[in-house]
Amino acid sequence: MNTNKRQLDLKQKVSRAAIDFIKPYILDNNFFIGIGTGSTVDLFIDELAVFRSNIGGAVASSERTRLKLLSCGIRVLDLNDVSSLPFYIDGADEIDRSLCMIKGGGGALTREKIISSVSDKFICIADESKLVEHLGSFPLPIEVIPMAINSVSRRIASLGGKSILRDGFITDNGNSIIDVYNLRIQNQLNLEKEINNFPGVVTNGLFAINRADVLILATEMGIQLIRRS
Ligand code: 5RP
Repeated sequence: MNTNKRQLDLKQKVSRAAIDFIKPYILDNNFFIGIGTGSTVDLFIDELAVFRSNIGGAVASSERTRLKLLSCGIRVLDLNDVSSLPFYIDGADEIDRSLCMIKGGGGALTREKIISSVSDKFICIADESKLVEHLGSFPLPIEVIPMAINSVSRRIASLGGKSILRDGFITDNGNSIIDVYNLRIQNQLNLEKEINNFPGVVTNGLFAINRADVLILATEMGIQLIRRS
């Protein structure tokens, strides 16, 4: 199998494993769930659709996910109309063993962070290529108000990072994304807070404050479950 096919196969397997993980809760009628964005999540939604009649509604982290959910016959709710979400399911671009992540490869980081922050349990679903010893090989996405692209990039440069504007990309919130290369990420929590404090930053793709509670990881050896300690 070539690398792409192998990765797709692992994404499929982790999606099914995520369904097995939450099935007891889904089978209680009127199940609510928050849903992230990406190719892994798309596969998860296909599996979730089998249980659509048990699902009271899903809160989507992006337009892409909203449309995918609707096409699968799953009711989509606004976060403002939901009082609690037992689970938030999403992928990651990188995740370490403390379950801190870099997210935002798909540009949906802000809504992902909002929904995960109000969910009881963040379940990250990933294939083994996403598990890393140290975060930072994947460029860190930052959503910025367009007028602050250069001022934020200068502040990022003072931290040693090189910002590249994601050309032609506008987020669902009408903002820009800069992808930051060469950042040394030593203290994920402090760096997440520091960058979020730069004027013009909407949020950055470090998920340390709201790290995952559980990682379901698909490997060539089978499914692994890593819980936040
Ligand atoms: C989107 C994300 C995704 O979770 C991340 O990019 C992983 O995507 P994929 O499942 O396609 O590998 O953070 O903003």
